[in-house]
Amino acid sequence: MKTIRNLKQMSGFSRQIKHRAKSLGLVPTMGALHAGHLGLIRKARKENDFVVVSIFVNPVQFGPKEDLKNYPRNLKHDEKLCKKAGVDAVFYPDAADMYPMGYKTYVEVEGFSDCLCGKSRPGHFKGVTTVVTKLFNILQPDTAYFGQKDAQQALIIKKMVADLNIPVKVKVMPTLREKDGLAMSSRNVHLNKQERKDALGLHQSLKLARTLFKKGVRDSNKVISVMKGLIVKKQTAKIDYVCVMDSQTLKPVKKIKNKCLVGLAVRVGKTRLIDNIILG
Ligand code: PAJ
Repeated sequence: MKTIRNLKQMSGFSRQIKHRAKSLGLVPTMGALHAGHLGLIRKARKENDFVVVSIFVNPVQFGPKEDLKNYPRNLKHDEKLCKKAGVDAVFYPDAADMYPMGYKTYVEVEGFSDCLCGKSRPGHFKGVTTVVTKLFNILQPDTAYFGQKDAQQALIIKKMVADLNIPVKVKVMPTLREKDGLAMSSRNVHLNKQERKDALGLHQSLKLARTLFKKGVRDSNKVISVMKGLIVKKQTAKIDYVCVMDSQTLKPVKKIKNKCLVGLAVRVGKTRLIDNIILG
């Protein structure tokens, strides 16, 4: 397995793959890899001749008060997992090469980027779409793999790819969870014992939403208030948002129909966690 830092070298590697008419799958990540990432890597491995995992803690998707400095980083551990999973190359670029002095160009998907997570993290999705566009241009993958855990991100990337005619197939894989239901996330390592217990509130409240839906409840406000009621009982949890929305437009819905997305963001201690399910 290669670890490539240089942008031109990375493009050269992928050009060689194209030249041989082989397929390339890309799994973009910020590292601190866990089983959730590995699910995407396994899928990419199954479907492509070559697999590249990018590991880049993208500074432009973090706000000034966010956790860029404290974001978990462990390249050695990540390399080991990638090697074991049969990855061909890890792309580990330098921030100064991705965003050299005088960098000025950003990609933004209007409308989808300033609600939900975008509301409490202004500029976040602009950073995501910019870096993903750059990765797509550097690597020119056939297929790129993303997780449903970040439902808004996945939808925004799909919209960007469609709107800008980017020749990459985007695949979205289901959320992988710990045994007790907590969605796997690189940020879970920051949770102390009490917070780890309280973090379960996210999944518990989503399960409750599913139960209510199965019982025939269709009023979004009712579902949201029951979910919030469960979360506020958790000592270290502070709700950012709980929303029932159309899974394609992310617009809030009053009456729940099939294929509605129930999403939430909760600050547990200092760690901001997100999760979602699709009903029906
Ligand atoms: P990161 O948080 O490292 O996640 C990389 C990919 O793994 C994303 O597509 C995310 O949705 C997926 N993922 C994370 N946890 C998952 C889980 N429990 N189950 C399934 N998939 C999961 O998301 C980012 O990085 C960045 O924003 C990035 C797209 C790399 C751009 O910088």
